[in-house]
Amino acid sequence: MNVSTTSQTAPALLRVLSDGTRLRALALLAREELSVGELSRCLAMTQSRVSNHLRVLREHDLLIERRSGTSTFLRAALGAGSADSAADRLWSAVAPDLDAVPEAEADRLRLLGVLAERNTDDASFFDRMAGDWDKVGALFARGEARQRAAAHLLPAGLTFADLGCGTGYVARALVGLCSRLVCIDRSEGMLEEAERRLREQGASGTEMEFRRGELDALPLEDGELDGAVAAMVLHHLPELDPALHEMRRALKPGGTLSVIELMPHREAWMHADLGDRHLGLDPTEVQAAFARAGFTDLRVEPLDDRYCPVPSAQQPNTDPRGGESVALALYLVRGRVPQS
Ligand SMILES: C[S@@+](CC[C@H](N)C(=O)[O-])C[C@H]1O[C@@H](n2cnc3c(N)ncnc32)[C@H](O)[C@@H]1O
Repeated sequence: MNVSTTSQTAPALLRVLSDGTRLRALALLAREELSVGELSRCLAMTQSRVSNHLRVLREHDLLIERRSGTSTFLRAALGAGSADSAADRLWSAVAPDLDAVPEAEADRLRLLGVLAERNTDDASFFDRMAGDWDKVGALFARGEARQRAAAHLLPAGLTFADLGCGTGYVARALVGLCSRLVCIDRSEGMLEEAERRLREQGASGTEMEFRRGELDALPLEDGELDGAVAAMVLHHLPELDPALHEMRRALKPGGTLSVIELMPHREAWMHADLGDRHLGLDPTEVQAAFARAGFTDLRVEPLDDRYCPVPSAQQPNTDPRGGESVALALYLVRGRVPQS
């Protein structure tokens, strides 16, 4: 809008915009074209009260009106891309903060209701709301129950395990996907930390157990598991075969094992800094150990993420690049216990 009348001088406009109701009305009308009745419902005010404010906005050329049959629709004559009028300059300074006005969320929620009533039989309503839907929709339902409900697509009664769980980084992604999750680690300290973090996640429908044990003597019954993951732990073991045989024993027929490992690397400081026995593992070695343990349907896949540890500058065995992180490649090996 380029017109600059006396009613649109900065002091006159500041007086208009100093009123909270007029700001809320302009925020709604900048978003949607509305009838006076619809605007009143969005503001939760009587039409006569809203009409008084609209009169002031009209006097200052801040509204565009369109007649359709017996109704008049209004929209804000603001923020149409030009910033060369006092009104547009003021509006571009004020508009970004309007979401923080206490009534703004409620106004937008009521706006949703008004628009939904007007137009629910095609996609245009949701097309218009798509950018704001997550924010406004958060008012309808709090928490993540709807997202967790997607896990109900999985068969009921599954038991998964995170083997060498550490602080439960991978286990966190399994919560909600199974009925029972068993976290196993040789370190009591790691298990305690995993338990604290996983319980903090709150109700999930997954019963959690934390068991101390070794990968080559797993504290699990034969065939107790439907699936297991062992992430970043095989490179700590002196031998792969005893652990892979144990994992197969603990899985049901048809159960799946996923191993996540580091590709072989040359970061020798990781022996001392991170307690790693091997500098990564060759995927073909891991795949061969799966096969020797009797797993079938073997797959090896690279993972997109990088593992980025940082050599500590304090360690005597430190790398000369102490403090600078390295980016190491990860891969996944998957296999299944045969049905019979
Ligand atoms: C590098 S952390 C990985 C933790 C977690 N899986 C992750 O991806 O973030 C290795 C974990 O394996 C555990 N661990 C190492 N050797 C083990 C063994 N033989 N049996 C059970 N846990 C072991 C360690 O205590 C440690 O918590």
